[in-house]
Amino acid sequence: MVETMYWADDALYLLDQRALPNEVTYVKCGSAEEISAGIQDMVVRGAPAIGVAAAYGVTRAVQDSCSDLAVDWELVLQKIATLRASRPTAVNLMWAIDRMTALIDQLRSSPVRVVIDAFLEEAKAIELEDVSINQRIGDHGSSLCRDDMRILTYCNAGALATAGYGTALGVIRSASRDFENISVYACETRPYLQGARLTAWELMQDQIPVTLMADNMVGYAMDQGLIDMVVVGTDRVAANGDVANKIGTYTVATMAKRHAIPFYVACPVSTIDFSTASGDLIPIEQRAAEELTGYQDKQWAPSQVKVLNPSFDVTPSELVAGLITEHGIVPSTSDGIRHIQSVLSGELR
Ligand code: MRU
Repeated sequence: MVETMYWADDALYLLDQRALPNEVTYVKCGSAEEISAGIQDMVVRGAPAIGVAAAYGVTRAVQDSCSDLAVDWELVLQKIATLRASRPTAVNLMWAIDRMTALIDQLRSSPVRVVIDAFLEEAKAIELEDVSINQRIGDHGSSLCRDDMRILTYCNAGALATAGYGTALGVIRSASRDFENISVYACETRPYLQGARLTAWELMQDQIPVTLMADNMVGYAMDQGLIDMVVVGTDRVAANGDVANKIGTYTVATMAKRHAIPFYVACPVSTIDFSTASGDLIPIEQRAAEELTGYQDKQWAPSQVKVLNPSFDVTPSELVAGLITEHGIVPSTSDGIRHIQSVLSGELR
């Protein structure tokens, strides 16, 4: 797989996901502001990838705010606020920024070179950890699979949405390694087409059999007995197990319930928002009308038409068969989330 992003010569290079699958090209982001813009403009997207990019963004914020002798911490905090506001739903963004910001108190009176090295090291650690976490998610998820399984996925929760391997597509990658004849149905994912442009491309790169379908074919496919399991990613899981993911996920989960098809959500625990009680409190990003009325230089809807374009919806916990995390598979309920919380506090001790 191509790299979602890489750091070189004090800049973050983001794979331009807007150009996929037609072109593999990177956007150079040489400042915290350029990284914020890259997140907002969907150059990089997918909750964990946004988190990793933001971690490098904080590093750049520090680099952009220092002289040889001192760091202007007020300026750093202003740049961090811009990064934090770049997209509202994926909690990995806030998680990564909080983890990076925790370094400030430790390093306030250290020499500038030490400060910059420490921030860069932490961002690199977040990136590396993400790949190994996804491999663990994949391996746990594979235990739910068997030969000949046909798995439906929505949006792109793959290597492209993370630092590598993917969450939902990580499960599919591990299952393809462990079982014979795993195949995937990828929904197109209107309006921004992450399924058609990214998931189909990513799976084809790995020679995992994939069939593309429009989002409104989900009911038909399930009714025809074509789907054995659904696995998707998520941008934020609330403390009661409600799950925010790409707009349309709720419809897929509802159809899965009707057809008694297990609907699983794969996520690192950094996507769990322990402080948000339920899904109705998760901020849902509303994106520009142009993302629905056309794509790039093509427009198919009448100009000036009124548009509804929420980027995410919330799937209630009762529709979710389980959360596949790096710490194992847990019910997507308050009890399941509390279990994860206790595992985490045990780790910290
Ligand atoms: O708007 P996007 O493309 O950032 O939305 C991405 C998704 O909804 C993914 O399913 C989610 O972030 C999980 S990625 C592992």
